[in-house]
Amino acid sequence: MKNILVTGAFGQIGSELVPALQNAYGEKSVVALGNTHIPHDFTGIVEMGRLPDAQLLNTLVKKYKIDTIFHLVSLLSAKGEIDPALTWHVNMQSLRDVLDIAVTHKLRVFWPSSIAAFGPTTPRTSTPQRTILEPTTMYGVTKTAGELLCQYYHLKYEVDVRSVRYPGIISYKAEPGGGTTDYAVAIYYEALKQGKYMCYLKSDTMLPMMYMDDAVRATLELMHAPDDALTVRTSYNLAAVSFTPAQLTHEIQKHIPLTVSYAPDHRQAIADSWPQSIDDSVARVDWGWKHAYDVPLLTHTMIRELRKKFSITR
Ligand code: SER
Repeated sequence: MKNILVTGAFGQIGSELVPALQNAYGEKSVVALGNTHIPHDFTGIVEMGRLPDAQLLNTLVKKYKIDTIFHLVSLLSAKGEIDPALTWHVNMQSLRDVLDIAVTHKLRVFWPSSIAAFGPTTPRTSTPQRTILEPTTMYGVTKTAGELLCQYYHLKYEVDVRSVRYPGIISYKAEPGGGTTDYAVAIYYEALKQGKYMCYLKSDTMLPMMYMDDAVRATLELMHAPDDALTVRTSYNLAAVSFTPAQLTHEIQKHIPLTVSYAPDHRQAIADSWPQSIDDSVARVDWGWKHAYDVPLLTHTMIRELRKKFSITR
């Protein structure tokens, strides 16, 4: 990886993956492509644009002699249900464009899949690597279809494309937008600002989650893994922790006062269609994946960092 393009560079994951890539490869080696939420203190190469746009991708790949693309652009699960046609168009067309350009220019690709690739017919606990994939959200449909497309381009055109099925990701830098797992980020903001939170999922809704540092490290470790170690070219199961809103509330209450009320909405059905815990043993064997953050550590870190971010002293 010498010259890297990150699409969706200022989204939840991009906001932390881009600095990690800049640290590892140098600021001049990373091109951040985005269209909104560019932080005022961002330093590095920025290109503005909205995907899908094959011509723009082609231009950037040539301009910066790109050899690797981290293609993070995506509409998420809850937002995706507002405009399923747009979700299909943005998520699938942009992935196809990236894979086609990868064939032409012999690029390596990272593309994120998600626990949303699973559905209500998938075994819900310790969900295996290879299992039933019948998602019921358009976001999930694009993840399942996208996984198969990645594998197809690998088999047919030898594209070195790698992927993980991220669980819900918890982070403090950029807020997520339009996901179902986002309560596990919002609850920290509201706990610190108001001491109370109205949760849109039921108190006992167990979902797989991961702290951002683990997610970024997993991404880089997968991209550094030797080619012949990889046995999965759809997308690797990836796990860290699983908890319910009630359990997370209890953990936060050890640090700060918090009252949570529950008003489940349309996102409850989405959460109910996803696994509660993930078996990621194939990732652990193939490329040595091991998470570092448990729920106490991620809670401690979130509260410490958000206090700094909002200059909260209590
Ligand atoms: N965090 C995502 C969502 O909730 C799942 O990939 O949509």
